[in-house]
Formats: sequence, structure tokens, C-alpha cells
Amino acid sequence: MRMSRLFQKTLISIIFLFLIIFITISIFSGWHLYNNLTEEYKSKGTAIASSIASSSVETILNLDSATVQAMIDQFLEIEGVSYVFVRDSSGQIISHTFVPNIPQEILEISDAHKSGIKDISIQGMGEFLDIVAPITEGAIGFVHVGMNKNIINKKMWTVIGSQIALLSAIFALSLFLAYFMVNKISQPLNELTEYAKKLLNHDFSARVDIKSKDEIGLLANTMQSMANNINEVFDRYEYALKDAVLELQNTLAYLTTIIDNMADGLIVVDKDGIINHINSAVSDMFGLLEHEMIGKNIKILGKNFVELSTKSLATEEIVTAEINLTKNRFGKAVAKSIKKEYFAEDSEAKGILGSVILIRDITQEKKVDKLKTEFITIVSHELRTPLTSILGFVEMIERKFKDTIIPNIDLNNQKITKVINKIERNFDIILSEGERITSLISDILDISKLESGTVKWNLEEISIEDIIENAYKALSSLFEQKGLAFNLQIQPNLPKINADRERLIQVMINLFSNALKFTEKGFIKCSAELSNNEILVKVQDTGIGIPEEEIDTIFEKFKQVGDIMRNKPKGTGLGLPISKQIIEAHGGKIWVKSEYGKGSIFYFTIPLIKREGNNNENINS
Ligand SMILES: Nc1ncnc2c1ncn2[C@@H]1O[C@H](COP(=O)(O)OP(=O)(O)O)[C@@H](O)[C@H]1O
Ligand SMILES: [Mg+2]
Repeated sequence: MRMSRLFQKTLISIIFLFLIIFITISIFSGWHLYNNLTEEYKSKGTAIASSIASSSVETILNLDSATVQAMIDQFLEIEGVSYVFVRDSSGQIISHTFVPNIPQEILEISDAHKSGIKDISIQGMGEFLDIVAPITEGAIGFVHVGMNKNIINKKMWTVIGSQIALLSAIFALSLFLAYFMVNKISQPLNELTEYAKKLLNHDFSARVDIKSKDEIGLLANTMQSMANNINEVFDRYEYALKDAVLELQNTLAYLTTIIDNMADGLIVVDKDGIINHINSAVSDMFGLLEHEMIGKNIKILGKNFVELSTKSLATEEIVTAEINLTKNRFGKAVAKSIKKEYFAEDSEAKGILGSVILIRDITQEKKVDKLKTEFITIVSHELRTPLTSILGFVEMIERKFKDTIIPNIDLNNQKITKVINKIERNFDIILSEGERITSLISDILDISKLESGTVKWNLEEISIEDIIENAYKALSSLFEQKGLAFNLQIQPNLPKINADRERLIQVMINLFSNALKFTEKGFIKCSAELSNNEILVKVQDTGIGIPEEEIDTIFEKFKQVGDIMRNKPKGTGLGLPISKQIIEAHGGKIWVKSEYGKGSIFYFTIPLIKREGNNNENINS
């Protein structure tokens, strides 16, 4: 087992503490010992020196140096005594214990040192306490005793050494004890730490086995039960997540199945026009495999699609186009942009994300439509010829009746006059109804020609002002008759447009005559301006308006507001559909805004520049 951090820290502090104790004890006891020993040596030396001094008075007086020598020699045996020498009152050393000769340092101090203790250091011999005792107060001479200080130092170091050895032993022992004690505490702490690390790595199945009843044991138990709880919660969430994912997958699969089994084709493009998603119907419609389309630009499906997706990405409205499918089939494509609102607030997506295009195979409808148009054309033709002759005959009969019969009748006969008046009224009715049928038939022929694309367009550079004025002129008598104010606002210097003059006049006449038909009082206002590279024309009236629920249908064939079965209709219901065909053939748009009971504004646009690939194709083909 590796050393626990706790133990490491404890060990370091113990060592530090012991070091301080060691040093203090050593310095203190060393210093104490040194002082004691020095004192002891001093008194010892002083005693020796005085005893030599007192006993040697006579000997020195007798100048018996041999005796002095013998005496001082014997003192050398005493522990700590290094040298002894005696000098006379003149300072002459008369005997000494130095071998072989007196060191220079001793000769130097002899004069100066006449009493007390002095520290000297002799080269080659060491440190000494030089203790002087005068003989008969210095009158005869002095005794010098040199106590060896080296011995003091040696003794001191021996004591300090053994002290350190003892302390070290105590230190080792206490270290040993500390190790065991700390270990006993840190072992479970270590285990707990390891356990906590495992929990951090989400290993909730890990176990910790601490049996002790102390705080650590309690902590371990608490942690264990906490881990169990977390584990349970995790498990529960994991299951819930799995369930949610499964449900999501199922929903996705369900949606994908629905999309794939749709009869209509579905294409999703991103904002760069790259195909993201298609369903199997699309593959059939274009005779391409899925992988030949996914990730490719929509232009591989034809330029109509490029225009459709570009238009749809630029607006939030629904954009439609007719397109050619494989095997001589036709489709109608409806495109709608995908906006970011459908995504979470913090989603990366911004603005329009792409476009969803739905394609319906309308080959059959087209066929039926064509048959219908053909049928209508034939029937209209068949009706128009006899109708023309009927009307011609009626006119002729009326003329003859007026010119020939009436002058030869007795107008005083009241009965006859009454009949004549009735006949005249009936002639009027026959003629006006006949005209209505004629215009209906010509409208029907017109719209079926427009719808089948067999109209010949005479394109020329014209100004919108010319068109509006011509239409107004054609209806000026009606305007006068109704007594409605007409207000014309044309932006000056409008660019010219490339269009079929007669057809646009037809549109304007229809819009003006509608405004006249459905307005009793107020005004009619017409304006033309340039907006977004298009000429925008508005026809506003203060008439009856169109109910909201009818606004979407009035551009359909035969749709007229109100119950045409009960009320006598004011027209054929073909004017707006014809106008719509004409405007769209020029690449423009026509729409209406109206408030029921207050009035309506009809708008249409004609693009200035003929763009490639737009509905102008109809005109050019
Ligand atoms: N300016 C208008 N104000 C009110 N209703 C209108 C206006 N223009 C058209 N409508 C409604 O739309 C219908 C269709 O118009 P249109 O196609 O021109 O047919 P028609 O003029 O032959 O009735 C009209 O019958 C009328 O109900
Ligand atoms: Mg009309």
C-alpha cells in the first residue's frame, strides 16, 4: 500500500518538530556542559596552581630546579592538565613540562599574565586555559597550569552525540507509532477516496467496505446509499430515454412511411436549392433513382423547378408551377418555404431553411380539361352560327315591323296599341338576351383558347398609360351614365412594357366595367406605378365589395358573387378568369383586396424585363 497523503504530511511535521527539538536540546545541553566543564577545569587548575605555588616556595628559593621539575611533572598525570611551568619574578621560566621546548605563545604571555585565567591557543597543541598562581604574591615567581580545553570540547561532543543517538531512537520509535496510528485513520479514508473517484466516473456498482463505527464509517455508509439512489435515478432515466428514443424512432418511421407512400411526389430542398429529401413517388415521376437526386441541385429536374424553388425561397407564400414529367405526363408542383419558426428558439437555423415541393400528377385532369375545352369550343361554334342568324332575323323582323307594319296599323285601337308595345318590348328582350348569349359564347371561346394555349400573342412595346386611356375611352359613356368620379394617377416616365395591347385593354375594360357594375356611388380610381421591376396597376372602387369567403373564388370560371340562380346575374363570370389568364401569360400576377360593403381594389403586375423560363413562354410559343 502506498503512503497516504495524511501520513506524508504528518511525517514531515514530525520530522520538522524533532529537528527543532534536537537542535535546541543539543545547543542548550552543549552550552551547559561546556560551561560546567570549563568552571570545573578552572577551579581544578586554580587548585593545582595554588598548591604548587604554596609548596614550591622553598624549592624555588633554593633554586632547586630538579625538585621543581619532579614536582610539576607529577601533576601532569591529573586529567585535563596539559602543561605546568614555573617562572621567577623576572619572568624567566625556571622549569616546565613542555617537550621538547617551550612554545612561542607561552613565552609571549609570561610577562603579561600575572594572575587569574586566560585563554590561549598554542599552535600544534590546541586551546588551553592558562591559570596563574603567584608564589608569595609574585615576589618569587608564578606557577602556570594549562588546562586542555580540547578535552572539554571532546567531552561535550561525546555527550551531545549520545544524546542525539538517544533522541534518534525515540524519534524512530515515535515515527513507527505515528505510522501505525495515521495508517489506521487514513486507510479507510483512502478507501473512501478511491470510492469517491469511482463514483465520479459513474461506476455506481462499486462498493466500499468500511466497517468502523466512527464518522468515517458513517460517511462511507451515507455515500454508499447516496450512490445507490443516484444509480436508481440513472437507471430510471435511462429507461425513460430509451422509451422516448424508441417512440421517436417509431414516429419517424411512421412519418417516413406516410411520406413514402404518398401518391403525390414530395421534394425537400435546402436554401441553396439542394435536394434533401424525396419520396418514392418522385422517383417514378422523373424516372430517376433516389441517389441520383439526393444531394443534387434541383436544376436536374428542369428549369421550371429552379424558378419554383427560387420563388418559394424568396417568399412565404405558396408558389405553383406546371411541369413536365416522364412518359409524356404532366404535374402540378406546389412549393412552400420552410421557416425557422418551427424550430427551437436557440436553433442555429435562421430565416428560411428551404422549401417543400409537392407534385401531383395531373395528366388525367389535363386530358379531361382538354376534352372539355374541345367540347366547349365545338358547342360554342355550333351555337354561335345559328344564334347569329337568329339575331339577324330578329333584327330584320323588328325593322320590318317598325318600318312596314306599324305605319299601316290603326293606332287608335287601344287593344292593338297595347299588343304593339308588348311586341316592341319583347324584341328588346330577345335582342339583349341574344347579345348576352353571344358575349357569353365569345367569352367561353376566349377562355378555352387561353387555357389550351392556342392564343396568338401580338407582343409590342407599349405604354401602360395608353392602355388605361383606351380602356377608359371605350367605357366613357358608361362612366357618364353612372355619374361616378374617375381618378387617374399614373407615375410619370413609366418604362414601356412588352405586351399584347388588345389583350391588356381587354383586362382593363373588364376591371373598369366590374367597378362600374358593382359601384353605385363614390368614385373609381386607377393608378399605375413602378414597383420591384414591375408595373403595378390598381383599380379601386367604392362599391359593394366582395365577401371575404368569395375573394378566393372570383378568379375561377363562372364564379359570381351571390346566388345567380335567383338574382339576375350582371355578367358571365368569365371576365376575371380571362384577365387572370392574360396577366399570367405576361408573367404577372392579379389579385384583389376588398372589404365587403366598402369597396374593392384590384391589382395586377406586368414585369418589365422578360425573364427567361417564366410564364412568358406561353406568349413566345
Ligand atoms: N369591383 C367589384 N366589386 C364587387 N364585386 C366584384 C367586382 N369585380 C368583380 N366582382 C365579383 O366577381 C364576380 C366575377 O367577376 P367577373 O369574372 O368579371 O364576371 P362578371 O363581371 O361577368 O360577373 C362578379 O360577378 C362579382 O360578383
Ligand atoms: Mg366582368
